[in-house]
Amino acid sequence: MLWSSLVTVVVYGLAQVAQGKPLGSKRWDELSIKHEWVEVPRGWTLEGPAPAEHKFVMRLALKQDGFDELVRHLYEVSEPTHERYGNHLSKEEVDALIAPHPDTADLVEAWLAHHGIQSSDCHRSDAGDWIKVSVSVEQAEQMLSTKYNVYTHETTGEQIVRAMSYSLPSVLEGHIETVAPTTYFGTMRAMRATNHVSPVKPIENDHELQALVSPGNLATVPASCATTITPTCLRALYNSSTYVPKATATNVIGVAGYLEEFANNADLQTFFNRFRTDAVGQTFETVLVNGGGNNQNEPGTEANLDIQYTEGITAPTPNVYFSTGGSPPFTPDSFTTTNSNEPYLDFLDFLGTQSSIPQTISTSYGDDEQTVPKDYATSVCNLFAQFGARGTSFLFSSGDEYTDAPYPVRGVGGGSCRTNDGTNVVRFQPEFPASCPFVTAVGGTIKINPEVAVSFSGGGFSNYFAQPSYQTAKVQTFLTALGSTNEGLFNASGRAYPDVAAQSEGFQVVIGGRVTSVAGTSASAPTMLIQDAQTFAGIVALLNDFRLSNGKSSLGFLNPLLYSATTGLTDITSGSNPGCSTNGFTARAGWDPVTGLGTPDFGRLQSVVLNA
Ligand SMILES: *[C@@H]1O[C@H](CO)[C@@H](O)[C@H](O)[C@H]1NC(C)=O
Ligand SMILES: *[C@@H]1O[C@H](CO)[C@@H](O)[C@H](O)[C@H]1NC(C)=O
Repeated sequence: MLWSSLVTVVVYGLAQVAQGKPLGSKRWDELSIKHEWVEVPRGWTLEGPAPAEHKFVMRLALKQDGFDELVRHLYEVSEPTHERYGNHLSKEEVDALIAPHPDTADLVEAWLAHHGIQSSDCHRSDAGDWIKVSVSVEQAEQMLSTKYNVYTHETTGEQIVRAMSYSLPSVLEGHIETVAPTTYFGTMRAMRATNHVSPVKPIENDHELQALVSPGNLATVPASCATTITPTCLRALYNSSTYVPKATATNVIGVAGYLEEFANNADLQTFFNRFRTDAVGQTFETVLVNGGGNNQNEPGTEANLDIQYTEGITAPTPNVYFSTGGSPPFTPDSFTTTNSNEPYLDFLDFLGTQSSIPQTISTSYGDDEQTVPKDYATSVCNLFAQFGARGTSFLFSSGDEYTDAPYPVRGVGGGSCRTNDGTNVVRFQPEFPASCPFVTAVGGTIKINPEVAVSFSGGGFSNYFAQPSYQTAKVQTFLTALGSTNEGLFNASGRAYPDVAAQSEGFQVVIGGRVTSVAGTSASAPTMLIQDAQTFAGIVALLNDFRLSNGKSSLGFLNPLLYSATTGLTDITSGSNPGCSTNGFTARAGWDPVTGLGTPDFGRLQSVVLNA
């Protein structure tokens, strides 16, 4: 290490001599802007300068030296025709690939030391690719040549400390990928501003429904499932009613929760009593992340919904609920360190430290891609590649978010859909992380016989991430059929999503002992409690069970397998996802940016995953 740091100094010193600059601290003087906004992000109001003494946790993402190599491994182990399919990497193998180059680590350390931060003040991820350090606003402003301000969210009143731009010394280019918190304003609380549950007349139990279902015969899916979803509906619709999980000693499905939302066990038992009697007594494990809680007196709607449906589909498969600590609101007179208000990164950080992680994970979180700075989005997206390589399937809803309440629709974009780069033109607004090529994005359907796309199903094309080769052929077929419709409103060369779809609304849920129905959306009350990702994740967990109980690996990153499958997904061919004052896209035969490849048929997918 000492040797390599000497080499670093010499190399950089020479570069500076060559450029006619003196050695020493001057090397930090030439700056490059890392990211800047042209306007305060919509929904936020500037309050004033952040107090100089306010302390927060700063994160630095260092360039992962072997990231391209990691992606090569990811595709080899995820491509069903490759000889390495299913041969996932260990945590140690992944850590070795994502570790920064020693020169990168040394250079960043030298820069931190220049700002009075010692190596011992830093907390590093196991691979050393992420550094966390507690800094004051004053210190961060000097490091990043910026000004931090306090901003208030217009709907929730939440206050955050953020910057309109930030810079790094030019010599750190290619060494530091992103710094947070800086210019990403999205927070879990702000994104959850429009949560809504509409109590409708619930059906009291569905024992009668269960009797109606004839396994493998979609024609016997109970008619009530057209408007009211229970586990019986989903298991019948997706052809998993008769499957009995066997790999319960190894297979786990995880649900990630934030914002002090707690999944309640008593409610789960009530739910089982009503809707899945054979699962009564089955519970779940709550794992606390970064100060997360587990208050059983405060059942959370979304947490209950998530756990009741993942369990409702996968019982007796073990379920884990990850409760990640919400961040305390900013208080101007508190000079103690507040965490960085990045519970999502906290959760992914935590997973990265675990030697064993659930084979299937669903999480609700999403934001307009353009509101997530590209450097930040890329660093987060890259994290999913490492979990895929380790054998975990990550599922995201493609439309789990309505930032511009009171607009009820996401579809191809909620709200005005104006670009925030100063040009202020209308463009479809892709959603991140659904737009990340390393996750599986799930669109929404409603009704039965046939299922149709739900109007708020998010879908479209990324402006940040290029179209991955696993989807090119199917996406090109769609684009050819689309012709010039919506031309200029979306980026045809971007990663296209969703990948698949599942039922998204009308889910019966027990909260505080009472059955309630969660609606998708209505003109007056948009909601984000969309269950398509959890539903699809439940089916994936059963497929993982099937593979594991047949002596095979977990599925890991799903997309190359899904796009190459010739059976197992029921194509959804009607419905559309209007938004941005347009009709959006229309579901049609084959892949489309409304429902992707379609909804799962577990029975048929069993043969697909067994032969992979
Ligand atoms: C379109 O997508 C490509 C590939 O991801 C990207 O390089 C390009 O910048 C995008 N164009 C726009 C206008 O966002
Ligand atoms: C359900 O799965 C079985 C295999 O378990 C398959 O034979 C059947 O065709 C599937 N049903 C439908 C309606 O796709």
